[in-house]
Amino acid sequence: MRKPTIIAPSILAADFCRLADELAQVEKAGADWIHVDVMDGHFVPNITIGPDVAKSVNRYTDLPLDVHLMIEQPERYIEAFAEAGATTVGVHVETCPHLHRTLAQIRETGARTCVVLNPSSPATLVEPVLGDLDQILVMTVNPGFGGQKFIESMLPKIETLRQWIDDAGLDVTLEVDGGIGPETIGRAASAGADAFVAGTAVFGAPDYAEAIEGLRRGAVSP
Ligand code: DX5
Ligand code: ZN
Repeated sequence: MRKPTIIAPSILAADFCRLADELAQVEKAGADWIHVDVMDGHFVPNITIGPDVAKSVNRYTDLPLDVHLMIEQPERYIEAFAEAGATTVGVHVETCPHLHRTLAQIRETGARTCVVLNPSSPATLVEPVLGDLDQILVMTVNPGFGGQKFIESMLPKIETLRQWIDDAGLDVTLEVDGGIGPETIGRAASAGADAFVAGTAVFGAPDYAEAIEGLRRGAVSP
């Protein structure tokens, strides 16, 4: 049986000067997780936040923190983000030559393990570590910025991963990130995704509760 839809607003699109208020509002509006985008200016062209901000975010919300590390050598920061309160730590496969070891390092901290795939990275890259994962994140834009267009050609990759997860009877969340809105969420859900990151579609909307409700509706009836 498919699990309930998880909506994870990304604070990348929030007002960073009013973060506590933004977190409270989105929590009240029915968000399931808070997605935390960490960028280093190397792996991706943009720079965002580090463990200290993640720690503050964790103080101001009761929701699980879904931490997305878009940084080189993520193994240097896994403990710091876990200590900051990350529920899930996601590392990009493109940054992890020793992916199995990096996942073990995440597991060791008690956080949920997640591998992230760039649009150009094939599903086969996670196949050898499927049994070590709590979550797979399929990027549906090239990481670095919010507000980009959903890449439709990622849908077959989502279908493949859903098939592998179900065939193996694994309890792995399949998340998508980038360009998710009421128009695109249905196609990602039909392909097999069950967790959805949404930045602009939530924090860019006048009413967060309406936006989240719209995403939930879109996910069940594409
Ligand atoms: C992109 C980030 C996303 C981003 C999504 O690099 O990983 O989480 O915030 O933003 P939207 O939903 O606006 O595409
Ligand atoms: Zn993200």
